[in-house]
Amino acid sequence: MSSILENRPALREEVEKVAEVAGYLWQKGWAERNGGNITVNITEHIDDEIRNMPAISPVTPIGLTLPELKGCYFYCKGTNMRMRDLARRPMDNGSIIRITDDCAHYEIIADKPVKPTSELPSHLAVHNYLISKGSDYKASVHTHPIELVAMSHCKKFLEKDVATNLLWSMIPETKAFCPRGLGIIPYKLPSSNELAEATIKELGDYDVTLWEKHGVFAVEKDVMAAFDQIDVLNKSALIYIAAKNMGFEPDGMNNEQMREMTVAFNLPK
Ligand code: 13P
Ligand code: ZN
Repeated sequence: MSSILENRPALREEVEKVAEVAGYLWQKGWAERNGGNITVNITEHIDDEIRNMPAISPVTPIGLTLPELKGCYFYCKGTNMRMRDLARRPMDNGSIIRITDDCAHYEIIADKPVKPTSELPSHLAVHNYLISKGSDYKASVHTHPIELVAMSHCKKFLEKDVATNLLWSMIPETKAFCPRGLGIIPYKLPSSNELAEATIKELGDYDVTLWEKHGVFAVEKDVMAAFDQIDVLNKSALIYIAAKNMGFEPDGMNNEQMREMTVAFNLPK
């Protein structure tokens, strides 16, 4: 069977990046079974031939009306599909969807009618928000990083910016590469519109949000950059836990060291 990716190097590159990241998520132990999902806004790589392609699925409601997404195209992980399978066969474990002109439905156009992730409302609502803000972010990644999810089981870390400041203080690079920190979203039912709305609210101030007792949701220019932000934060969580396991509370960088970093790297306060 021919693939929509054939003779479309830019589109292929985007999908191959998703596959590479899916492999990392599995290797890190963050993607048990079908855990996690990735969507990428690929509209800039869509040509007229693709625009004229007939749908290979029924027109399906999103559950939300998202006016900025009219005529947009997304690569989406399939619901119930495994990241470790997607890593090897992205077009068998994910699909490309088109948002219909009423902005409230999608249809699958390639390569196979793989139903998109159950977290589609959150992902698409976030893409709608990003476009409305004029953002150049195109990718969103939801995954289940063990140490960050573990931290979300402790009330102290769910207070505004407590986890952010702790994680930033573990190693200088964390603030440098995740300068907006970690937004906290109190527990909401997976795949619900309430979770989507809460996520959008936090993305005004943060690139990565922690879904209490569930996982993280990150946005960035591309899927690799979104993965990097999560990886950097989780590395700090690992350092914190390693210190605790050695029997002491880590000092963390002090305020003066944090200030010096912030100035040297020209970071937001
Ligand atoms: P999907 O298999 O539907 O993408 O769901 C995985 C998940 O992590 C839900 O939060
Ligand atoms: Zn999840």
